[in-house]
Amino acid sequence: MTQDELKALVGQAALAYVQPGTVVGVGTGSTVNCFIDALATMKDRIAGAVSSSEKSTQRLQSHGIVVLDSNSVERIPAYIDGADEIDHGGHMIKGGGAALTREKIVADLADRFICIADESKLVTTLGRFPLPVEVVPMATSQVSRRFAALGGNAVLREGVITDNGGCILDVHGLSITDPLGMEQEVNQWPGVVAVGIFARHRARVCLLGTSQGVKTLSF
Ligand code: A5P
Repeated sequence: MTQDELKALVGQAALAYVQPGTVVGVGTGSTVNCFIDALATMKDRIAGAVSSSEKSTQRLQSHGIVVLDSNSVERIPAYIDGADEIDHGGHMIKGGGAALTREKIVADLADRFICIADESKLVTTLGRFPLPVEVVPMATSQVSRRFAALGGNAVLREGVITDNGGCILDVHGLSITDPLGMEQEVNQWPGVVAVGIFARHRARVCLLGTSQGVKTLSF
């Protein structure tokens, strides 16, 4: 099976985690695009969606799915999103699509994070994928120096401004053995809007697309 076929498979499988009559949290990325297309088949049975990016909002609306303002929603049962890497404890690196801050906000509204990914995303230790960090523009050098002190090489993602007006640093060369500790540490650095480590908001379920079909991992 191709990677695209695996993405379509897990996008479809995620429908089982959408509770009829509720609002569903929707992430961002090519895997989530498959989920959004599948969600369109049950759009009349959900109360709407909360979206984590302008791109996902556009795709949801193009299918006629109602997108709600996150400020009008108190709790949602499930947030469905992809990942750039996921480890065997459900900790993730996210932000390859520059939507990490809004993804974390919507994930925080949810009772459960359901990760959908192809098997290439499963790793033993997070960090081979450069860690995305959204930063206030005036703090990029300062934050980069802090990463250098930890052995990381932060590279500004050229030409990218997030939906929130921030910049993205991609940090190469980290081996993230303590995802929760590193998330908490980086979150405290002035100028950091959000770090792409999802440990506090880790996945509770991962639907992993494999050549043998969808494997369900629970954490
Ligand atoms: C978006 O900012 C990311 O967090 C995505 O969830 C992640 O990059 C996975 O994207 P793909 O499904 O396109 O691999």
